[in-house]
Amino acid sequence: MVTTIYYFSATGNSLVAAKDLAAELKDAKVIPITKALKAGDEDSSDAIGIVFPVYMFGIPLVVADFLKSIKVKPGAYIFTLATFGGRPGRAHTQSFEILKKRGIKLAAGFSVLMPGNYTPLYAAKPDEAQQEIFKKEKLRIKAIARFVRERKEGVMEQKPFLPNFLLYKLLYKSGTAQIPLSAKGFWLTDACIKCGLCEKICPVENIILREGKPYWLGRCQHCMACLQWCPVEAIQYKKTTVGRKRYHHPEISKEEIISQRG
Ligand SMILES: Cc1cc2nc3c(=O)[nH]c(=O)nc-3n(C[C@H](O)[C@H](O)[C@H](O)COP(=O)(O)O)c2cc1C
Repeated sequence: MVTTIYYFSATGNSLVAAKDLAAELKDAKVIPITKALKAGDEDSSDAIGIVFPVYMFGIPLVVADFLKSIKVKPGAYIFTLATFGGRPGRAHTQSFEILKKRGIKLAAGFSVLMPGNYTPLYAAKPDEAQQEIFKKEKLRIKAIARFVRERKEGVMEQKPFLPNFLLYKLLYKSGTAQIPLSAKGFWLTDACIKCGLCEKICPVENIILREGKPYWLGRCQHCMACLQWCPVEAIQYKKTTVGRKRYHHPEISKEEIISQRG
């Protein structure tokens, strides 16, 4: 009885959730969505989990692409697990609708609160507040693992309904339409040491180096990996990020984020 857990993660929250769930389930393997998209292989697992961060009250573009192309075994138990910093929006219903069009049933959608990583809007939480969230995440994953083992159906954790629904309807389409262009908003301070980590850590290979400095191409996911992992905080987004506390999950190494690339 094999479970495959696919994940997309920029600052490690979704990867921690994927790894913790795999450890609870015991029979699970963990695979990056970016690699699976490139390979395009058919999945013969009995259960499939898709783990990702909520973006603009919905799902990241790369996750939508994955849901539009994933090939699963008929009758497989499929669930989504969204990590989020404030409101999960309509990520599970959106995933349900994409899969339904392809004749695939999404059985359940679980949401796990994690520290928010959208630095253009807010600074990272203080370390003690992060630790409280991490403790709760471990317990939530144990509960989710029980649901998954029982093959529970119909759970769609995106309450309270109205604000999540409205925010998705108001912001997702307009917001995500801007995302590939959003790379134009990134800029560099003089602190850049030309280490090249930004180029390596971008999960969708959207950064190239010119004379050692990053240049963003047109398939940005707006995931913030480049900005969050920059060792000298030289990468900024528009006007608000200068001096703001950065974030990445302390259990995840930069090498693990880099390994998402094909
Ligand atoms: C572009 C972007 C949009 C986001 N939008 C939302 C949102 O709509 N609701 C929310 O609760 N968190 C939002 N977040 C926060 C992330 O969902 C959250 O921090 C997530 O756990 C990050 O996962 P990761 O570390 O695996 O990348 C957003 C983050 C980014 C980068």
